[in-house]
Amino acid sequence: MSENLYIPEEASKAIKYEAIIPQINSLISDEPDLISNLANIAAALKEAFGFFWVGFYLVKEDQLVLGPFQGPIACTRIAFGKGVCGTAWKEAKTQLVPDVEAFPGHIACSSASKSEIVVPVFKNEKVVMVLDVDSDQLDDFDSDDQKYLEELMGILGKTLR
Ligand code: SME
Repeated sequence: MSENLYIPEEASKAIKYEAIIPQINSLISDEPDLISNLANIAAALKEAFGFFWVGFYLVKEDQLVLGPFQGPIACTRIAFGKGVCGTAWKEAKTQLVPDVEAFPGHIACSSASKSEIVVPVFKNEKVVMVLDVDSDQLDDFDSDDQKYLEELMGILGKTLR
């Protein structure tokens, strides 16, 4: 795998996801180092879509702890069930949040963040980390983002076994 990501220009989000997911798959499938893989996934999503913030929070004992990300500095620790990330962990389910201010308990790492999607990653059916993607636009994520990000996090989860 070369270190260049091919991203179709002026394509729909779905077409971009279809193009980058196989490339990310080949980028991470032969690399055993988790931090390297998470860093490359965050970078690929940022490069392809220009998201405001994209990164991982890893389950460490009873908290989520900030992992590799792209974007402004962020909160380092999130408790189980707190915020959008802690809720995705607790419910073991993607959280699609069109307006973060309407989400009870949302943790505002940045006031520029307006909408958000958080996708859990599973190992042996347990949530071991979450992918958090933030936008500075309201209502910026839809069922396509959910479908493809869940697919991508499924690929990542398989590398953890
Ligand atoms: N908004 C998240 C916190 C993480 S930052 O957005 C990077 C939450 O409510 O869990």
